[in-house]
Amino acid sequence: MEVVIAPAEELAVLAADAIEALLRREPATVLGLATGSSPLKVYDELARRHEQEGLSFARARGFMLDEYVGLAADHPERYRNVIDTEIASRVDFAPGAVQGPDGLADDLPAACAAYERAIAGAGGVDVQLLGIGTDGHIAFNEPGSSLASRTRIKTLTRQTRVDNARFFDDDVDQVPTHCLTQGLGTIMDARHLVLLATGRHKAEAVHQLVEGPISAMWPATVMQMHPHATVLVDDAAASRLQLGDYYRQTFESKPGWQGL
Ligand code: F6R
Repeated sequence: MEVVIAPAEELAVLAADAIEALLRREPATVLGLATGSSPLKVYDELARRHEQEGLSFARARGFMLDEYVGLAADHPERYRNVIDTEIASRVDFAPGAVQGPDGLADDLPAACAAYERAIAGAGGVDVQLLGIGTDGHIAFNEPGSSLASRTRIKTLTRQTRVDNARFFDDDVDQVPTHCLTQGLGTIMDARHLVLLATGRHKAEAVHQLVEGPISAMWPATVMQMHPHATVLVDDAAASRLQLGDYYRQTFESKPGWQGL
């Protein structure tokens, strides 16, 4: 696992660099897209490069991590709509190239199975952007999730609903109780994981992710088993890392730096 500690703007540039390098090498790349606050600067940077530097997503595909169950099709916080607003509509993805699990399906387990097939059918995810919850979730794999789980229905923890109430008029009761989420096993199949975390409220989750024992109680710790995982954190999110100085030194002195 590689840990990079830098200001948020630099982290976004590094993540965008990794995605751009992939797109230039293989235009038909498969991107894993996260919602929430953490990837927003990355999406801004990618949209800027599309507009100003001609970076094209025309042959790429995108798969979202998760979706709330039951939010109306036109609800602005439905992740399908959020991802359209934050990135899909700002670049040149082909129509239908970005998919997410269908939180409005009549048969939710069938929708989850169909989503797994769609990801596999696209050849799997090349680079997966991730945020982390204060409770250590990635996607919506809440504490206790099987480390081998696949896309399925999950119940959101009270903590996650409180954390996300800021998107719902600060009213926790408006936050859905259930979601469809890629499983930890699904996420681990992606070829490169890039997790972004900023702010002191993420410091304990980041410490557990990087330095804690692998445990379903901190689901993100499964990333320690991934052969190519990058953790991008600012000083505040890194503030509880025991080996913070070592990670800084490693990044600054990396020989033959080729990007993430
Ligand atoms: C969103 C997702 C979640 C968020 C996490 C952090 O698609 O999968 O795991 O990444 O809840 O959210 P923010 O970035 O808003 O702090």
